[in-house]
Amino acid sequence: MVKVLFVCLGNICRSPMAEAVFRHHAVQHGIADQLEIDSAGTGHWHVGNLPHNGTLSVLASNGILTNHRARQIHPRDLNHYDYIIVMDRDNKRDVELLGLGAADVRLMMEFGPDSGPDEVPDPYYTGEFGLVFELVEAASLGLITEIKQRLA
Ligand code: 4NP
Repeated sequence: MVKVLFVCLGNICRSPMAEAVFRHHAVQHGIADQLEIDSAGTGHWHVGNLPHNGTLSVLASNGILTNHRARQIHPRDLNHYDYIIVMDRDNKRDVELLGLGAADVRLMMEFGPDSGPDEVPDPYYTGEFGLVFELVEAASLGLITEIKQRLA
């Protein structure tokens, strides 16, 4: 099993989108049964909530569903997961402030094209859910390539 946790600030926009897109492609690549996939926020404000309507609608228009409910990252996650994939450097700092675990804490866009941005911008403020979808989809495919090598 390879365990992957996607993390953003609120766990209602970026990380639940990344979780759903990554799971969708993991199914297509036939590796979903070898993965444990979840998402969480560094903040607590939206715990228990469904994703933002912008996230739900861009997912739905790409044929992807989610029933994720927001949760806050817990220090135990740092040892449970193999990868903690954060959307931006603030998320990385906030995760690292929780302590040090076995998980590899990586920026999502490290798995994206070299020509692209190195952080996933927050659509809660920008409204650019379509752009975020394109970024997390490209990076999800890169992450799947890395994990397939690990599973091989
Ligand atoms: P996310 O976006 O981190 O991509 O889920 C945000 C959602 C909520 C807030 C900030 C960012 N907020 O301040 O409530």
